[in-house]
Amino acid sequence: KLEKMVKKIEEEFWISVELLKQLADDMVLMMRKGLEDADSSSIKMLVSYVDSLPSGNEEGCFYALDLGGTNLRVMQVKLQGNRTIDLKAESYMVPPKIKTGKSHELFDYIAEKVSHVFEMKEDDFEILPGKKRELGFTFSFPVHQTCINSGTLLNWTKDYDAPDAIGKDMVKELSKALEKRAIDVNVTALLNDTVGTLAGGRFYDKNVVAAVILGTGMNAAYVEQSDRIVKPYGLPPKSGQMVINTEWGNFNSSLLPLTVYDRALDNDSPNHHKQLLEKMVSGRYLGEIVRRILLQLADDAALFGDSVPPKLQQHYVLGTDIVSAMHGDKSADLSVVGKCLEKVLEISNVSLEKKKVVVKICEIAATRGARLSAAAILAILKMLGKDKLANVGETVVAIDGSLFAKYQEFKSCLQKTLAEELLDEQVSKMVLLKQFKDASGIGAAVVAASHSIYAR
Ligand code: BG6
Ligand code: GLC
Repeated sequence: KLEKMVKKIEEEFWISVELLKQLADDMVLMMRKGLEDADSSSIKMLVSYVDSLPSGNEEGCFYALDLGGTNLRVMQVKLQGNRTIDLKAESYMVPPKIKTGKSHELFDYIAEKVSHVFEMKEDDFEILPGKKRELGFTFSFPVHQTCINSGTLLNWTKDYDAPDAIGKDMVKELSKALEKRAIDVNVTALLNDTVGTLAGGRFYDKNVVAAVILGTGMNAAYVEQSDRIVKPYGLPPKSGQMVINTEWGNFNSSLLPLTVYDRALDNDSPNHHKQLLEKMVSGRYLGEIVRRILLQLADDAALFGDSVPPKLQQHYVLGTDIVSAMHGDKSADLSVVGKCLEKVLEISNVSLEKKKVVVKICEIAATRGARLSAAAILAILKMLGKDKLANVGETVVAIDGSLFAKYQEFKSCLQKTLAEELLDEQVSKMVLLKQFKDASGIGAAVVAASHSIYAR
């Protein structure tokens, strides 16, 4: 029975190359719609107000604050021209209580960390007399912006849920919290992590035209021609270009092959019916999908013996980091799987055969996530016209996030699917997915530099 069930699950989770291509086309349609009117599409296509990208020759000392999926990072970035920098960073794990508390508590927490870093690194500061420090705020959630240095929160995603922050200006909230602690700093730019990663990637490489985050959440930004943005957003930029934060994690379509596990996960989530693509792919959810499958196998096919292990019933107890460790277990007796099951799920003495089933389930869920990510990247390349040999040139997609950086099997499957199944062979040779160290922080600093109040 167990074998039969696993086979059925594998079939349900398999997405054919034909469907991947259809999904990419559907995403392109939704993205075009989103450029016309955000409300009529599940892909919002948010205007970032970043309309010129760095050359790498920027200079000066700027600060970056990066509220990502896993960490809060406070950075001092000295831009030294000629694509060189000196970066100092402190990283903090945001406590779950802060992620789901009151908005002012979150911003007070952030301000406290900024103040701590500023005090700690005081000797380093190169503040010219009469000048304020300037900071770029990388905020990895959807905001509606009307200019570079303000934006109201549309909704939370991932594991953040502080309802009273919705509709508030994130720059104002941050500035208020910083002022309260008498921290003298000007928040010069607000940008999504994908936009920061794009700017940071471009700082190093002129061929970067898009950025993708595959981490706790998933998202992409790319450089759009401003005359293709139909919805009103202000004066058209002189450069003729505008970076768009797609928020593609919210993609929803009748073509998305949701399984019973996806539907149940979505039903139990605080952002019900939202971020459906993200919920099938990203790090916040992959572990939870695996847990739900294992629970059913334990229940219906006695995967872990006669009774269902109580820990396995706890939502989100299985992190994607554990799934990645189990999937990557190369030992003959799958000792890593054994240890993970024992430590995280309190299940011991699992036979080798059953451990193989666990690895298989990790593989099934990760493979689907990686293939969907490849399809989503194809959609961005299509938006840029870079799925065609005539246009592709050398195309670099900056990519970051813990899922891509730390889950080797996920990363390999994504790259293989994109290169061997979705792109033409000649085109795939020209498209590079590249990780740039500290890209989103550097990106925030360069965007802050180009909008410096002293340069206006
Ligand atoms: C980090 C970037 O490397 O990755 C952040 O600096 C980004 O800007 C983050 O938000 C995403 O990954 P994760 O795994 O933290 O969600
Ligand atoms: C979520 C957020 C998005 C962010 C992504 C990656 O999808 O909505 O803004 O870019 O996670 O961190």
